[in-house]
Amino acid sequence: MNFITVESYEELSLKAANLIAAQVILNPKSILGLATGSSPVGTYKKLIEYCQNGEVDFSSITSVNLDEYVGLSGENDQSYRYFMNKNLFDGININKNNTYVPSGCAEDLVAEGKAYDSLIESLGGIDLQLLGIGLDGHIGFNEPDSFFTKETHPVDLDESTIKANARFFEKESDVPKKAITMGMGAIMQAKKVLLIANGENKKEILEKAFFGPITPEVPASILQLHPDLTVIYSKK
Ligand code: GLP
Repeated sequence: MNFITVESYEELSLKAANLIAAQVILNPKSILGLATGSSPVGTYKKLIEYCQNGEVDFSSITSVNLDEYVGLSGENDQSYRYFMNKNLFDGININKNNTYVPSGCAEDLVAEGKAYDSLIESLGGIDLQLLGIGLDGHIGFNEPDSFFTKETHPVDLDESTIKANARFFEKESDVPKKAITMGMGAIMQAKKVLLIANGENKKEILEKAFFGPITPEVPASILQLHPDLTVIYSKK
């Protein structure tokens, strides 16, 4: 594991964007696993800058996102599809037909999960997976549990996750209680994993996840077993 501590969110975003840009330049047909949340916003801003300056070309890139809220369509401004369009896809030259987010509106979420895993498999897996981390150690929406789940699957969100994500909604009761998330299989099979986190409040969970025992009670701890993991942390 490569654990990098930097001084500012700006530096974190620059480093993360440079790693993703390098991946895209080295393999313009890369499959990128992408994440939502506040952590990657600065990284995405940099990537937009690189693309608009003509330094990085996303035209042959395919992306697969980690998760989506159940019941929110892509037009809903709280959906993760909407977030991705607004914070990244609309600013770069990626073909939107090659950007995938699991559907939170599928009637059969288990079948949607299976189809999503088949899609990832048919793409040949993920080359670089970007992750944030929740305060309870979740990655994607893989919440603490007594076991790790391999497949893309529907989940009930933890109370603490609903509370933490309420800041993006008008009121806490608006936060969906369920989501669909990529499981640990596709994440762990990604060739490279890049996890970014910032803020004092993430320090404790990072210590548990990367310097504590590997346990499904701290979902991100499984990443200790990944052969190519980079974590970038900034206190601010
Ligand atoms: C959400 C997302 C995660 C993200 C986490 C942390 O719950 N499903 O993918 O990593 O929140 O978010 P933030 O970066 O805003 O702290």
